[in-house]
Amino acid sequence: MNWGFIGFGRIARKFLESLNAVEGEVAYAFASRSNADALQKEFPEVKVYSDYDQLLADPAIDVVYISTTHNFHCSNTISALRAGKHVLCEKPMGISSDEILEMKEVAEETGCFLMEAMWMRFLPAYREAITRVKAGEIGEVKYMTASFGFRSIDKLTTDGRLLNPDLAGGALYDVGVYPLTIVSDLFGWEPEEFKAHAILSDTGVDETIQVQLDFGGNRLAQVVGSIGIHTNKEACIYGTEGYVRLPFFWKAQSYEVVKDEQVTTFDVPYLATGYAHEIQEVSKCISEGKTESNLFTLNDSLMSARLVESILSTIFK
Ligand SMILES: NC(=O)c1ccc[n+]([C@@H]2O[C@H](COP(=O)([O-])OP(=O)(O)OC[C@H]3O[C@@H](n4cnc5c(N)ncnc54)[C@H](OP(=O)(O)O)[C@@H]3O)[C@@H](O)[C@H]2O)c1
Repeated sequence: MNWGFIGFGRIARKFLESLNAVEGEVAYAFASRSNADALQKEFPEVKVYSDYDQLLADPAIDVVYISTTHNFHCSNTISALRAGKHVLCEKPMGISSDEILEMKEVAEETGCFLMEAMWMRFLPAYREAITRVKAGEIGEVKYMTASFGFRSIDKLTTDGRLLNPDLAGGALYDVGVYPLTIVSDLFGWEPEEFKAHAILSDTGVDETIQVQLDFGGNRLAQVVGSIGIHTNKEACIYGTEGYVRLPFFWKAQSYEVVKDEQVTTFDVPYLATGYAHEIQEVSKCISEGKTESNLFTLNDSLMSARLVESILSTIFK
């Protein structure tokens, strides 16, 4: 399939490396409002537009990858769907549940494929670990922890999005969605209760956020996301017969099963820069005529946005 990129920043470069590694997928065109001329020089074999609508009007493009800042995802996705393009949109797919509902509605109306680029869910190591846990490897799971925190070097400038409230900055949108997603894999998206605490940045976004969740039925979780401090960057799933540890779980290439103080490590590397697996899923779904993936559904995107929304509403009352 021919891919068009809407926005071409930091993640687009890594995604491109994975796209180039998947047979049959072609990086056909990029649209960048800020950097088109330089990109055309760097990638002479690719069509480069300075206007997103021009890219969307190109009939040779089958599928669009959206990696603008989160605040633009909804409008960019809707424009792409209305232009008849299939869409893979970066996480978080929208910054409110209303946005997701609108995107979902337009996808249904146009019959185009739409998926949130929650690449973690497609990684072989991650999938194997979750499958093993679901099959009872560590007994009954009663507690989970997942933490993804790093210190962002972004400043409040036009080229730094993470702390910028106008660009939907903040830890929960950017990194917190990964811990919430791994928790959802075992406990679902709807805690009976949760309590959230945050350290706010000078710019007023959540710089560090900690959420304790109670899913009922003796199932607890604690998640941490931060763009202000380095955390241990791992997920642990605790059961009655042992625990599973996923270092760097959002980009997992291995996991450990720990039983009776015996650690067994499973190495399951990903392809290219890791995004190859979500790309393969998009390609497979589209070739099968599907409009969404079973591995990360539009309902997952909606439920994730609802949970993020309710957590943020307790922080920013
Ligand atoms: N899946 C992953 O592993 C992963 C990793 C990092 C980020 N992401 C997601 O990908 C998205 C982009 O992240 P990134 O780190 O690549 O961001 P970035 O490099 O800061 O920006 C990406 C693009 O957004 C547009 N943009 C940035 N600042 C803007 C502004 N002030 N006004 C208008 N447009 C602006 C630009 O588009 P133009 O090129 O058109 O100028 C830019 O190239 C985010 O939603 C993020 O959550 C995903």
